[in-house]
Amino acid sequence: MSATLLLVGCGKMGGALLGSWLENGFAPSAVTAIEPNPETGKALSKNHGISVLETPVELHSDYRPDIIVFAVKPQVMADTLPDYRHYAEAGSVCLSIAAGKTVSFFEKHLGPNAPIVRAMPNTPAAIQQGITAVYANPNVTPEQRDLCQNSLEAVGEVVWLEDEALMDSVTAVSGSGPAYIFYLAECLAEAGIAAGLPNDLAIRLARATVSGSGAMLHQMTEDAATLRENVTSPGGTTAAALEVLMAPNGLSPLLIKAIQAAAARSKELAD
Ligand SMILES: NC(=O)c1ccc[n+]([C@@H]2O[C@H](COP(=O)([O-])OP(=O)(O)OC[C@H]3O[C@@H](n4cnc5c(N)ncnc54)[C@H](OP(=O)(O)O)[C@@H]3O)[C@@H](O)[C@H]2O)c1
Repeated sequence: MSATLLLVGCGKMGGALLGSWLENGFAPSAVTAIEPNPETGKALSKNHGISVLETPVELHSDYRPDIIVFAVKPQVMADTLPDYRHYAEAGSVCLSIAAGKTVSFFEKHLGPNAPIVRAMPNTPAAIQQGITAVYANPNVTPEQRDLCQNSLEAVGEVVWLEDEALMDSVTAVSGSGPAYIFYLAECLAEAGIAAGLPNDLAIRLARATVSGSGAMLHQMTEDAATLRENVTSPGGTTAAALEVLMAPNGLSPLLIKAIQAAAARSKELAD
């Protein structure tokens, strides 16, 4: 990619994106990062060969990135944005991955004409198996849409939303979702221990089962229900467990409650 990219915030998600961009298309010379922690900055510069600055005031006066990716915590976004308003006014597309922060929030801080793209990635981005949902305001040009699509495709699938209101539910399902799956692996191990397995064996069985099943979902064309039915013999052991999990008070109503809680929190963060 010939575009220039400015990454603001190189923590867990910004760092994951950065690693994938450098592996999949961006030259180190095209990427500049702003990271206030000097130790993190030094390590990034050494490991990736990119330019890392502690604050945006250190950027050269004629620097103008094609794309700015905001990957700081939602709580510090309002204080962070004013330093970048002149780039947005000059036409740099501003891509945010912050949970809960709306396009109108960015328009307020970066100007009404700023091209804004709001994205919600998830942590499997760190191994290029993420999924990112994206919403753009009307100021974003088709070329800028393509640039955002290409940048985010470096870390997995990309889906464009026509309605920004869906973003809270997207955040609840795929943004926060990997944590639910990790918790499933913890619960499966705990259940194995309760069933009499040694700790190490239960943890190993649970981990390989969750990751192997995830890999099947990733590689095979059948939907999740078909894959489940394929391994459930009538009257067998799997059917006995699924009778509990699929009962009216089983996993589905619990997950509905969990997703509602996450979506409500995403709305709160927007306020
Ligand atoms: N982690 C996820 O699974 C996930 C999923 C989807 C979306 N997101 C979104 O991704 C964003 C980042 O989350 P994260 O988990 O990567 O957080 P994180 O690990 O805390 O990373 C944020 C980074 O930004 C740095 N920072 C703070 N203020 C800054 C500023 N003014 N300019 C530049 N950098 C600054 C922080 O440095 P210090 O540590 O020195 O303060 C830190 O390195 C959040 O908005 C979150 O909603 C995260």
